[in-house]
Amino acid sequence: MLLPINLKRIDIYLNSGDGVSVPSYKPVIIFLDTDKHASPFDILMAVDLYPDAQIVYYSNVEAEDAKKLVQDAMFPRGPKGVKRTKIFISGYDVEKAEAILETAKKVMFPPFEMAVIMDPRGAHTTGSATVAKALSLLLEKGFGGFDGKKVAVLAGTGPVGRIVSHLCGMEGAEVIITSRSQERATSIATRINEELGIERVKGVKAATPEMIGETIKDAHVILSTGAAGVQLLSKRVLEEYGGRCNVIADINAIPPLGVEGLKPTDDSVEVLPEVWGIGALTIGTFKNEIEAELFKKAMEAKKGVFDYKIAYQVAKSLLKIP
Ligand SMILES: NC(=O)c1ccc[n+]([C@@H]2O[C@H](COP(=O)([O-])OP(=O)(O)OC[C@H]3O[C@@H](n4cnc5c(N)ncnc54)[C@H](OP(=O)(O)O)[C@@H]3O)[C@@H](O)[C@H]2O)c1
Repeated sequence: MLLPINLKRIDIYLNSGDGVSVPSYKPVIIFLDTDKHASPFDILMAVDLYPDAQIVYYSNVEAEDAKKLVQDAMFPRGPKGVKRTKIFISGYDVEKAEAILETAKKVMFPPFEMAVIMDPRGAHTTGSATVAKALSLLLEKGFGGFDGKKVAVLAGTGPVGRIVSHLCGMEGAEVIITSRSQERATSIATRINEELGIERVKGVKAATPEMIGETIKDAHVILSTGAAGVQLLSKRVLEEYGGRCNVIADINAIPPLGVEGLKPTDDSVEVLPEVWGIGALTIGTFKNEIEAELFKKAMEAKKGVFDYKIAYQVAKSLLKIP
């Protein structure tokens, strides 16, 4: 039986039972990373989840490079084989990652489409984990869902904070994003409102503990999404201003933590009377579960984009939130 020469390297041939051998295409995951060195994080996850898959990664990828890389991944395995080829877009430069996704979407056409996972900086899975965990805790403690709630997203101008704010807005919350810069806060808030098609997010400058206190004083939910190793909320400020808060979460696992008094492993812990907390490692562990499910969905799909929208659905379903 002759093997098609272009498929020899990566195909495993199975006997179909009627004497005709048909190719069973090996899964291939292609990482397009914007960083100088592609991050091992998602690659290692893929290796553990799919030990039989071929992993290919490219670093320093620009949107223009993505055009050629995606095109060259589309054709060699034919219309059937391309369905077993997946793309994972990652990296610290979220804007660049979004441009890569747009390029990939433009370049692909039927029947040469691939499933694409989008999780630059882990923001889509981490943001989904944070919001779903907070929602689950609100519901568990009888406070109801996000609809109409006031949510303060501290230092919400980073990639994770942006997804967190978007998802809270999508769930009907009134969101305040804080930043050390009014310009950055307004710019991110405007962008999210445009994405949502409704004004749900406001950007506020909060550069001192007292300014942060002012932004949390009406918040039912506080989600701290600041940079690693930066404390944004002290216990004193939370005690003094956080009287309306029901749920608080922190995603910074590197000391000093984002919220003083909230331990990384806390999961539904009462940090102050009637204030329930979720720590960064709890969120991180759940993020990994979501990412594993996102991989599974993309591996099973013939095409489609697997980003925060799917990640959030996955997160809610893992937590059994309708
Ligand atoms: N738990 C997990 O599984 C997981 C996964 C991924 C990421 N993370 C964590 O999630 C957090 C957010 O990630 P990211 O990539 O979105 O963060 P980021 O872009 O590094 O930082 C978020 C925001 O923090 C603010 N900030 C930076 N330095 C500051 C300082 N010295 N003082 C006060 N504010 C400061 C900035 O806002 P302004 O400049 O606008 O003030 C920045 O936009 C990080 O702590 C990261 O380690 C956790």
